Parts: sequence; C-alpha cells; structure tokens
Amino acid sequence: MTTKIIDGKLIAKKVKDEIKTEVAGLIDNNDSTPHLVAIIVGDDPASQTYVASKEKAARSVGITSSVYKFPTDISEEELLNTIDFINNDDEINGLIVQLPLPEHISVSKVIESIDPEKDVDGFHPINVGKMVIGQPSFISATPAGVLELLKRYKIETEGKHCVVLGRSNIVGSPLSILMSKKSYPGNSTVTVCHSKTKDLSSIIKQADILICAIGSPQFVKADMIKPGAVVIDVGIHRIPADNEKGYKIVGDVDFEDVRRETSYITPVPGGVGPMTIAMLLSNTLLSFKKKHDS
Ligand code: GUN
Repeated sequence: MTTKIIDGKLIAKKVKDEIKTEVAGLIDNNDSTPHLVAIIVGDDPASQTYVASKEKAARSVGITSSVYKFPTDISEEELLNTIDFINNDDEINGLIVQLPLPEHISVSKVIESIDPEKDVDGFHPINVGKMVIGQPSFISATPAGVLELLKRYKIETEGKHCVVLGRSNIVGSPLSILMSKKSYPGNSTVTVCHSKTKDLSSIIKQADILICAIGSPQFVKADMIKPGAVVIDVGIHRIPADNEKGYKIVGDVDFEDVRRETSYITPVPGGVGPMTIAMLLSNTLLSFKKKHDS
C-alpha cells in the first residue's frame, strides 16, 4: 500500500507564510497590527516552552506578542482583574491563558472571564457552543489544525466512518463534533471512544479516518487498522530511548508499525503538533479582521 506521510511542518509553514503576507497587507492599510497576549502563571517548564514558541511564531508573522508572567501564588482576583484589563484594551485582539493553572485558581472562572471575541484558544463556553451549532466561532487550535491538514491534503471525509479516540474538551470532543458537521472537512459518521468503551479494537478496525487523542504512547498498532485508513495522531509523549538524548518523542500511534496499513498518516513529531501554533495565529488574525471589518 502506498502511504502518504502528512507533513504538518510544511503545512504549518505554508499557513504561517499566508498569515505573514496578509498581516503585511494589513499593516500597509491600517495603523494597527494584530496583537496576541499570553498569560502564564507559575514556572511549569512545558508551559514556558509553549508560550515562548507562541511568542516567537507570532513575531515571525508580524503579529505583536506580549507575555504577562505571574508567580504561582498570584490570587485568582488579581488574575481576573488582569484579564478584565486586557479585555478592555482595544489594541489587543487575542488573549490566551496558558493551562494548567495552579490549583487555587478556577480554570472555568478564568476561561469564562475572557472576552469571547478575544478567546483565540476557543475555550470559552460561548465559542464552544457556537461551534456545536455551526455558527462562526474560534475553533481551538489543535482541532482546527487537524481539519486544516485534512483540507490541505484534500482527504475525502464525506460519508466516511471517523473514529475519535478520546473525549477531552480541547481535542476529542470538539473534533468529534466538527467531523460530523455538514461541511468539509466533515459529513463523516463519527464514533467517539473513551476509557469505558468496550471492544475498542473492533471499533478502531472500522475507522476510515482514525483520530487518536488518548494520551497513551504507541497504543495503536497495525493489526487494529483497517487497510487504507487515514490516521491522525494528536498524542505527544516522551519515552526512554537508547540514543544520545536518552528519550524520543512518540504519539498515541506506533508509527513504524501502523504506517504500512494506512493511506495517509501524521508522524510525531512533525504532524499535528506544528499546526497548533499556526492555527492560533490564524485565529488571532481572524479576530483582528472581525474587529476592523465591523
Ligand atoms: N496548555 C496546553 N495546550 C494549551 C492550549 O492550546 N492553550 C492553552 N491556553 N493552554 C494549553
């Protein structure tokens, strides 16, 4: 079987190049530029890395980027006041609060305090609700990145059986909804699997499109796959390896084992991962345009 490797790094670069061109045009026609603010609380190393990457990517396409860093012991009230301040700043188009947050801060209170018009993470219940009923909204970056890959590779989704492994608010749940929508990519028949699903292997075997977001390294093996399936791997894990670094990055799918059974497959790293930041920037540009078109 000929397998096509979906090159997320390449597509992310294309998306960012398109954003860069559009932002350059906006700068010529406006006296303001899109502006993304990230709030980070505490010193979780992974969060620091993610936010630094988002900041660098934003700058690389001409989007202004600011980061507000707060110590772990910031009070919920002070954080909410800061969000309120940013909500009211007309020059700011996108606001993300990097998760996780310390335990004394309510994630839902924080997300609900963000102006839905600036919620470029697409986590606010207003944006989630609009997505569910098919109204224009900010779609979370990772699900949006998966849809963009399907679109750019012109992968047929209509009438296909799409199996989604995982039901998280950030990935599995929105993707299961989006893939069932009357749109492209979409129009699929969707099955959502989770920790209580019985006979998981036989359901995976029925998938024309398999989206994996279960958080279990190399869980999906070749014998579970329907020959010719499209496999999208959203997982990212660091596992011990016999190399210089002592580790390697893998997904939820055992890539080397599974690839030969598929028509299209995303690698990890270099598949869905690079798309996430590209789509966050795309949402920030969209937010800017919505404000300036109205
Ligand atoms: N933590 C892990 N992924 C994300 C994300 O996409 N957005 C935010 N705000 N925090 C995260």
